[in-house]
Amino acid sequence: MASVPSLAATVNQRVADALSAALPEAAGADPLLRRSDRADFQANGMLALAKKLKGNPRELAGQVVERLNGLDAEIAEVEVSGPGFLNITVTDAAIMRTLTARAADDRLGVPLAEQPGTTVIDYSQPNVAKEMHVGHLRSTVIGDAVMRILEHRGENVVRRHHIGDWGTQFGMLIQYLIEHPHELDHESDGQGGEAGESGEAAMSRLNRLYKASRALFDSDEEFKTRARDRVVQLQGGDKETLDLWHKIVDESKIYFQAVYDKLDVEIRDEDVVGESAYNDSLQQVVADLESSGVAVRSDGALCVFFDDVKGPDGNPTPLIVQKSNGGFGYAATDLAAIRDRVGNLHADTLLYVVDARQALHFKMVFETARRAGWLPEGAARQLAFGTVLGKDGKPFKTREGETVRLVDLLDEAVQRAETVVREKARDLTDEEINERAAQVGIGAVKYADLSTSMSRDYVFDLDRMVSLNGDTSVYLQYAYARIQSILRKAADRGLAPVAQEEPALAAAERALGLHLDEFSQTLEAVAETYEPHKLAAYLYGLATHFTGFYEQCPVLRAEDARTVGNRLFLCELTARTLREGMALLGIRTPDRL
Ligand code: ARG
Repeated sequence: MASVPSLAATVNQRVADALSAALPEAAGADPLLRRSDRADFQANGMLALAKKLKGNPRELAGQVVERLNGLDAEIAEVEVSGPGFLNITVTDAAIMRTLTARAADDRLGVPLAEQPGTTVIDYSQPNVAKEMHVGHLRSTVIGDAVMRILEHRGENVVRRHHIGDWGTQFGMLIQYLIEHPHELDHESDGQGGEAGESGEAAMSRLNRLYKASRALFDSDEEFKTRARDRVVQLQGGDKETLDLWHKIVDESKIYFQAVYDKLDVEIRDEDVVGESAYNDSLQQVVADLESSGVAVRSDGALCVFFDDVKGPDGNPTPLIVQKSNGGFGYAATDLAAIRDRVGNLHADTLLYVVDARQALHFKMVFETARRAGWLPEGAARQLAFGTVLGKDGKPFKTREGETVRLVDLLDEAVQRAETVVREKARDLTDEEINERAAQVGIGAVKYADLSTSMSRDYVFDLDRMVSLNGDTSVYLQYAYARIQSILRKAADRGLAPVAQEEPALAAAERALGLHLDEFSQTLEAVAETYEPHKLAAYLYGLATHFTGFYEQCPVLRAEDARTVGNRLFLCELTARTLREGMALLGIRTPDRL
């Protein structure tokens, strides 16, 4: 494992050295090197610097050029342009050298973090006895990608699925089960027994239980009272009540697992630590907040107030930690979870991949934990995501106005993908087509989500998602499969990828090569800012550069053997980079499509 500095970083350093040699006061100044259309790179730093030092930018740039010329193995050409930019062209050999170093490393030259910490990431938190919807899709897909990107850097990542498995609705469900003991029985749903167990069957049983108990709860005052008493039994740890609660949670987990399998996401049982797990620490949380004065009693409820959080009427809106009837809610649980994550799991960073509509909740919870001394300033952050919209631009609903079931969307995506795969596939068996359709369809859904900046809303449009053209995963997967097919043909003819030391690179080869070299700096930025969409944009750029290269530079039919070897090398490195980048987004890259 050897991290490889990018050519951009090397050249930036060369220019910085020349700059401080030309002008000692400029030591430490950043030349601000960027990729450019005019040359390979442009450095703009001389402008601001000359202004600051009251000099002439063109003159300063000229002095830098003098010190760079002839001194350098990387730089082929450098000239002053405009008001005082530097246009820099690197040598073909320098491009091939950096790419060869990347290719020799199984991490493609991407460094590990120098001081990895511990990050606890809270993501994919569906609610027990309820359907998973598009909001859970976003949390799962974004959380999975961020988790992979951080782990790839060497960060110690602890995953937490804070599922909604606690609360007053369980009193209603359990009480109903006690009164109707066969309600969750497998035989009663007509969908087969234990052997034919499926997630869908589990969910339909839960749905039925939910509807039936809700109806009774709303119509029967006495049942309502019994249901409320049942909550007290649950929180008190009564055995019969807890057994039934487990039964409901387990049933839900079967369903979640079926959705995760479809979504091709790995969720480990030990990471599912739901709201219920914090039940025993809630009393302590409340006691500590009250004794420290962070929370105060107001109309019987225990509340935390904030100067800058007011309701529409101008009155302060508190965070309610304990209700006046003694019950605990969502906030108390989140506070207990923070104490556990910082105190026991030793997290340096807490991430919450949760809908932006919960931003106020997290703002208040984080500030409360900070005041209580449980959370260092700035250690927690909500990765707030936007809403998934229907084609009408409104939050995605069925025609009947109901929440769209995530499974239905996934099934439809795979179906659409099958049409696309079938059209293109010539020599695939039905089984292969089904496998590809799943990889293409699910990849399309994930990519559409991850390629949008997470705070933005996006329209769920399957036609666009599975399109072969444009910024889609299918386009990237096809680029990858095309390269694999080239490499297979090359192998059949006994041709191997071999990087050449002194090739004369075509423009499209240079562009592809320089983009390949940016992989590691892209990943570093993505990990630092938690922005998977920048990785998606990089990969789309890579596939586009590859398309340009492929159109302009024949690979197997190139003019001479050295060029064939070098182009195969570029193909192979592109494929590896695409594969690695897509894997970090949780998306498969099949070898054949
Ligand atoms: N279960 C919640 C929902 O479906 C999300 C939980 C988010 N995580 C947390 N620690 N509050 O909206």
